[in-house]
Parts: sequence; C-alpha cells; structure tokens
Amino acid sequence: MIRVGIVNVTGYTGAELMRILARHPEVKVTAATGRSDAGKRLRQVFPSLRDADRDIIPAIVEDCDVAFLALPAHASAEAAPPLLQTGAKIIDMSADFRLSDLAVYEQWYGTHPTPGLLPKAVYGLPELHRGEIMAGNIIGNPGCYPTASILSLAPALQAGIVKPRLIVDAKSGVSGAGRTLKLESHFSEVDENVTAYGLDGHRHQPEIAQELAIAWQRGGHSGAPSLTFVPHLIPMTRGILATAYADLDGSWTVEQVRDAYKTFYANEPFVRVVDTPPSTKHVWGSNYCFVYPLIDKRTDRLIVVSVIDNLVKGASGQAVQNLNLVCGLPETMGLETLPFYP
Ligand SMILES: NC(=O)c1ccc[n+]([C@@H]2O[C@H](COP(=O)([O-])OP(=O)(O)OC[C@H]3O[C@@H](n4cnc5c(N)ncnc54)[C@H](OP(=O)(O)O)[C@@H]3O)[C@@H](O)[C@H]2O)c1
Repeated sequence: MIRVGIVNVTGYTGAELMRILARHPEVKVTAATGRSDAGKRLRQVFPSLRDADRDIIPAIVEDCDVAFLALPAHASAEAAPPLLQTGAKIIDMSADFRLSDLAVYEQWYGTHPTPGLLPKAVYGLPELHRGEIMAGNIIGNPGCYPTASILSLAPALQAGIVKPRLIVDAKSGVSGAGRTLKLESHFSEVDENVTAYGLDGHRHQPEIAQELAIAWQRGGHSGAPSLTFVPHLIPMTRGILATAYADLDGSWTVEQVRDAYKTFYANEPFVRVVDTPPSTKHVWGSNYCFVYPLIDKRTDRLIVVSVIDNLVKGASGQAVQNLNLVCGLPETMGLETLPFYP
C-alpha cells in the first residue's frame, strides 16, 4: 500500500482528493490536515465523506510516500521542504511548481518561498510529460484552465496545423474559485450572470503559454506562440469549457486535422477526440477531457472545443493520475469512474 498524506483536506481539491483516494485500491490515506478545521472529524466538515471519516490533524507527523499539497500558492511551497526531507514525493495543486522560469513566477505570484526547488519540479500534465513525471519527486499539478486549453491546442501546434497566434476563450464553474468565501462567488453575484475576468492578464496565461511553446518546439519550430486567454465565470458548480481559435497554416481538411488529433491522443487513457460538440456535463465527475476540433471554412481557422471537470481532470483526478505514475501503478487506477449524467 502507498501511504498518502493530504495537506489541507478542507478545500474543494482536498475533499475531492479524499473522495477519489478513499476508493483507490493501492492507497492508504495516513494523514489529512486542516488549518481552521483541525481537531474536527472529516464528516463534520464534509458529510459526503462519512465513509472516509478520520480526524483532521494540524500537520503531518507520520512518514508518507506521497504528499498532496492542496493549499494556496506560497503556502504550498512553504509546506514542501519538510515533507521532501522525510523522503516523500510531492504533488502540489497550487501554481508554486508549475512555472519553470522563476522570473515569470514572480511576475504573477510575487516572491517564490523556495526558488531552489523550482528547477527540480516537473509539470504534471501526463499527456505532455509522462516520462518526466514517472521520474519526478516534485510534481506541479496543472491548473484547471491550463489543462483544458493545452490539451485543445498541443496537437495542432506540434503537427504544424496552425500559425502560432492563438486565442483561448474559456468558461469555468464557480468551484474553480475554491471553497473560501468571496463576494464574486456569492449565489446572487453568479446566478443568471456571466462575467469575463482577468482581462488585463490572468495567472493561467503564462502557464498555458509555457506548455504550448513546448508543443510548438516539439514540432520542430522555434520561438513561442502568442496567446490571448480570456476566462469567464458561469453559473454552474463544476466544469470548464475552453474554445480555442487559430489560423490554419496551409490547407487542411477537417478529416486530416481529426486524424492528427487522434494520432496524438491514440494511447491516452483520459483524452477522447469526439465527433460531436462536447458539453461540460459529458465529463462531469470523471477524469476525461473531450476534445472536438473543427475547421471554420469561411475564415480558414481551426476551432477546438474541449471540456473537463475542473475538480477532476482539472485538479484532483489529474493529481491521482500523477500519483499512479510516480508510484509505478496503472495510470487509470482509482479513476475508472464514467461521467455522471444528467
Ligand atoms: N478549485 C479548483 O478547481 C482548482 C483547480 C486546480 C487547482 N486549484 C488549486 O488548488 C489549490 C487549492 O484550491 P481549492 O480550490 O481546494 O481551495 P479552497 O477550496 O479555496 O480551499 C482553500 C483552503 O486553504 C486553507 N488555507 C488557506 N490559506 C492557508 C494557509 N496559508 N495555510 C493553510 N491552509 C490555508 C483554507 O482553510 P481555512 O481558511 O479554513 O483554514 C481552505 O480550506 C489552490 O492553489 C488552487 O489554485 C484549484
């Protein structure tokens, strides 16, 4: 059994980790921490996790093989060193280990608490970095918008289908903003409302740009694509739908584009190139990403619609996929659930 700790089980991603790991056949959750809820039983905070009940403790004392950090940026980087010293591998849900360039991190998030660890971290998107993740000790689990956005455009960039000027327009449910109370996520602010935000720059833009540059360069190109990214808040609980746009480079039929996407994702257990436009409810509660590429013949433009559940493939499910990879377990273990519908 792999001994796993969850640092901060009391947020949405921490609770979702516990939901998935409680039924993982090769994992024993040995510790789950909280800050303001330390000392309570888990079922007092999350009645849905009654059958995974345990004490919420203030800090991990027992050794574990893998520790998930489900904390805000900065708090994660501060929590990592003592856990690494015990020999634990780290899978971090925050942005602290996602950006490889320290200057870019500090431009968006301020001073990094443990900059020396950044070069040792691996970006935890299995579809692009599987081999590095398997050998990694610190995994920066991708953000929710970045997961949907990168998976929608990486095949087109690597295959040279599009010119490197990209637009991603994405919509997220409110759980993407976390469980911490904020005015913007009150029912009366969100219900019957749609809001574009981060218009002067959103923190996920550099993360998406970093990975799309890798896909572009793997296709034999130099430089990096330019990227406009606009997120929107939608009145629903879970889900992200990203629509990506890019001008075609040369003449491509939709059949050729779909073949290139199907080849790229041929061996991926959780990405499906679908035949009809996907909705967020097609992947609800699952670790799938559905990707739908099409061509706008009037403008010679590629359009790609992708959907994920932000708390599963966009966070905790992908983190468990990474746990399976770092521990040498079958990649889909504990994640075989089909989406629930309606
Ligand atoms: N929500 C998503 O869809 C999503 C997706 C991908 C990645 N992420 C990332 O995952 C991380 C966790 O997100 P979340 O949505 O689970 O957050 P959340 O639901 O808002 O929960 C945040 C939790 O962090 C605790 N907390 C805040 N500051 C802390 C600190 N300095 N030390 C210890 N605990 C602290 C809070 O507990 P108390 O205040 O009660 O102590 C609260 O339980 C974030 O970095 C987020 O960006 C989230």
